[in-house]
Amino acid sequence: MMLALAADHGGFALKEEVKAWLDEQQIPYKDFGTHDGASCDYADMAAPACDAVISGDCDKALLFCGTGIGISMAANKIKGIRAACCSDYFSAKYTRLHNDANVLCMGGRVIGPGAAIELIDVFLHTEFEGGRHARRVGKIMAIENEA
Ligand code: RB5
Repeated sequence: MMLALAADHGGFALKEEVKAWLDEQQIPYKDFGTHDGASCDYADMAAPACDAVISGDCDKALLFCGTGIGISMAANKIKGIRAACCSDYFSAKYTRLHNDANVLCMGGRVIGPGAAIELIDVFLHTEFEGGRHARRVGKIMAIENEA
């Protein structure tokens, strides 16, 4: 499994904490920035990480901004991306089971590293249930393809 990581300045510190955990877990990742705390725009950071998921270079992406919301909005504009902004364990688990989310977004001003790691762990280790949920996800993708 190869992950794509990206953050704006609001999510930078949390991204760095998450990288330390991924290193411990020996989970490989590509870091698409930002690489310091200077102000930048979350849409610019989301795009290359999501493109890496769409191209198949990476399997999933973890994105961070202040709230997790702006970067999730940007990510969801990219065809094929299903990004979920989560701050609770149940949502991070069920967005894999039911929505087949391929991007998890978190807010560096919302949750701390302990909670983020719990969310990431369950997100990475939960498989899509398929079945009736595949039909529903298919309808999301149909909306995207009609647009
Ligand atoms: C940046 O100040 C902040 O607006 C951004 O990180 C994010 O929270 C937007 O949704």
